[in-house]
Amino acid sequence: MSKVMSSLAVNTKIQSDFPVLSREVNGSKLVYLDSAATTQKPQCVIDAITHFYTNYNSNIHRSAHTLGAEASIAYDSARAKLAKFINAKHTSEVIFTKGCTEAINLVAYSWGRKHLKNGDEIILSEMEHHANIVPWQVVAKETGAIIKVVPVTVDGILDLRYYKDLLSEKTKLVSLIHVSNTLGTINPVKEIARLAKNYGAKVLIDGAQCGAAMPIDVQDIDADFYTLSGHKMYGPTGIGVLHAKKNLLEEMDPYQTGGGMIKLVDFNETSYADIPNKFEAGTPHISGAIGLGKAVDYIQELGWETILEIKQSLYQYGVNRLKNIDGIKLFGHKDEDTSVPVFSFAVDGVHPHDVATILDSMGIAVRAGHHCCQPLMRNFGVPATARASFSIYNTKEDVDVLVEGIKKCLEMFS
Ligand code: ALA
Repeated sequence: MSKVMSSLAVNTKIQSDFPVLSREVNGSKLVYLDSAATTQKPQCVIDAITHFYTNYNSNIHRSAHTLGAEASIAYDSARAKLAKFINAKHTSEVIFTKGCTEAINLVAYSWGRKHLKNGDEIILSEMEHHANIVPWQVVAKETGAIIKVVPVTVDGILDLRYYKDLLSEKTKLVSLIHVSNTLGTINPVKEIARLAKNYGAKVLIDGAQCGAAMPIDVQDIDADFYTLSGHKMYGPTGIGVLHAKKNLLEEMDPYQTGGGMIKLVDFNETSYADIPNKFEAGTPHISGAIGLGKAVDYIQELGWETILEIKQSLYQYGVNRLKNIDGIKLFGHKDEDTSVPVFSFAVDGVHPHDVATILDSMGIAVRAGHHCCQPLMRNFGVPATARASFSIYNTKEDVDVLVEGIKKCLEMFS
């Protein structure tokens, strides 16, 4: 009883941290189940951004005045927080980007173009987000490198036997998603990286869905590149992180050039700044970094034990309730140890967009579409799915509301 009381109290407190959750949508209390697309923002993140613009808005690393110094300190301290959050060996290994898409494009441009040659192989998987497919296709076209694809099984997990068979001396890069945005599958990235290293291949892990899902230790995973999306971990949009090993960043060419990334500029020659500045040309997203730093504080104050307990209980309850609805198909392998509470499903006889529209009329926000994973949709033989993705501010009651909404869709189309 006391455990139930205390988890209810935790849930109520967390919900009250996110102001948008108190609004109504179409006459019902909002039930936000689209956190895989973007998480909501706690008041402390909103306040940190407002505080920056209200009290010390200034450019960084340029101006000697007090505001400039305060902004520079806040920006640099956000980088240090992120470095600690993912256990980076050096703070300078954390590059602020617009998000995972830009982080992967940076690696494709600055590392890929330099190191990939005709006949080299890049291993991706069928569950990749388009952001981890298209940049490599472009580089492959330019360099003559070849893309190989690890298939996804009917259970929604990577076929690791196939992966092992694909690895060879020709493999120069393995670039895989850590947690599937569509299926919620957690991939065994440490093992994937270890196997790739036997062949000397570099490894990129797309951690877009991970910042708010689980503790990340980049030294333990030992990938060469790891990406994070700020807005999927309670931070603002337009900010993310590329973590890369120091020696790689030092030898890579800049991705963009301009102010802030130079040591000396002459019309004949330019020398570049040390990392991380070498990869942050122009005025960066200062308020974004400060907001993301505050999001990290928020996650750490809640604590991983609490976060994981909430997510696992939502997962367990969600999967049991959804599996027991006649007339829906859940995509993917649903197992507590290898999934986060992200559920893609099809409702018999109802187009996913109609599902999302009907649910929205009841105040329930889900995403419908291909989730930027068209190859995965092809694997499952569907053009699109409806997807409900849960976060720490969701409750078992939200699962119940979703289930009632799906039943209503089935009734309406029966
Ligand atoms: N990648 C985001 C999603 O899965 C946008 O919805």
